[in-house]
Amino acid sequence: MRITERTHSTDETEALGKLLAKLLEDNKISSAFIAMRGEMGVGKTAFTRGFAEHFGIVGVKSPTYTVLNEHKGRVAIHHFDFYRISDADELATVGYDEIIEGDGFTVGEWSENIEDMLPDDIITVTISRVGFDLAQENERDIEINIPMLEA
Ligand SMILES: Nc1ncnc2c1ncn2[C@@H]1O[C@H](COP(=O)(O)OP(=O)(O)OP(=O)(O)O)[C@@H](O)[C@H]1O
Ligand SMILES: [Mg+2]
Repeated sequence: MRITERTHSTDETEALGKLLAKLLEDNKISSAFIAMRGEMGVGKTAFTRGFAEHFGIVGVKSPTYTVLNEHKGRVAIHHFDFYRISDADELATVGYDEIIEGDGFTVGEWSENIEDMLPDDIITVTISRVGFDLAQENERDIEINIPMLEA
């Protein structure tokens, strides 16, 4: 399944994150890897915050400095930021393999940095700015691909 939306505010992007969470839950999907793609400051963490809120988790912040933030709501959410990660050893240190095979959702920002180490059948969320002038400052095009759900 593929979903495309244009959002016009941080709130709308969070709402779309919530919508993805509800869609997965309604379809009894309780474990998946979600790769958040898009350049710096585009809204990957904002989308993740909305996603987590659906499961009763509030206050999701960027794991830029911590690499991994662990959250437990109705499901577990393992929120990674791979921005500073480049090799398998660094991932092993935080228990990456065990986490992605375990329960709950793994949400990974900057997973482009660890492309070789991603599992099969990942959900991708790609966010891009629509334009760079002031009028379009808060606009984002968001494409969600969910390979495990039929169109
Ligand atoms: N439509 C929008 N959707 C999401 N964020 C928006 C939107 N319009 C403006 N923003 C702003 O853009 C910023 C997005 O920040 P956020 O931390 O979510 O980005 P990020 O992609 O996670 O960045 P990083 O690569 O540093 O992790 C916030 O300041 C947010 O308020
Ligand atoms: Mg972020």
